[in-house]
Amino acid sequence: MAVGKLDNELGGEVVRLRAELAAQERALRAKEEEFGRYISRLREALRKEKRQAEVVSRSYVAAVRALTNAVEARDAYTGKHAERVAAYGLELATLIDPELAADPETEFGFLLHDVGKVAVPDAILHKPSALNREEMGLMRQHPVTGFEIVSHIDFLDGNAQRIVRYHHERWDGEGYPDRIKGRDIPLAARIFAVADTLDAITSDRPYRSGASIADARREIALGSATQFDPEAVDALMAVPDDILERIRTETALTSTAAPA
Ligand SMILES: [Fe+2]
Repeated sequence: MAVGKLDNELGGEVVRLRAELAAQERALRAKEEEFGRYISRLREALRKEKRQAEVVSRSYVAAVRALTNAVEARDAYTGKHAERVAAYGLELATLIDPELAADPETEFGFLLHDVGKVAVPDAILHKPSALNREEMGLMRQHPVTGFEIVSHIDFLDGNAQRIVRYHHERWDGEGYPDRIKGRDIPLAARIFAVADTLDAITSDRPYRSGASIADARREIALGSATQFDPEAVDALMAVPDDILERIRTETALTSTAAPA
């Protein structure tokens, strides 16, 4: 009898333990499923956030392009000047400071450098002869006007703002509007000055054909440590011809219309 009772008690205990184990397994599965759902929700939230960030980023790019086009539309003979300068500038920036090149504001600033020209009267902007002192004064206001325009735009309040304000400063302090010199000029603006001159020398104008890239290299080298930051000039020398030629060709003049 005693053995039978013990068997019954052991059997009961095994059943109870099995039931307890099954309950623990069910609880564990439920927790795993809950965790799986949590991970899915997290992934979906991240995907949504990424999509929203991409929409915002595309909106920024579209806004900058629209503003750039509005500026360039008044200056038909320069074609895609801003686009070319931005491409040249990014090549130089990548060699000097890859982090600066990767900052979207750097490209935005390169594209928008002349946004302040919206305030320059057509008669001055398109004057075929040399500007007089007063007209030159108005023209030289465009970096400050541009700076004021972009300073109201949150996503342009860093490098973009600095490029717009300082893109006509010179390494030797003889530029404008603030006549700052050397490394006081933000790096992106020093790089821009070289890219801008490269484009000015190599672009066709109604009154002359653009010079070769080799000629532009020689001319810019002459301005190293006076007009230009030597480091930016060295970077230009390090960019292969075929890259510069490709930029020049891909963003070739789209309109040969004379200035209105
Ligand atoms: Fe300018």
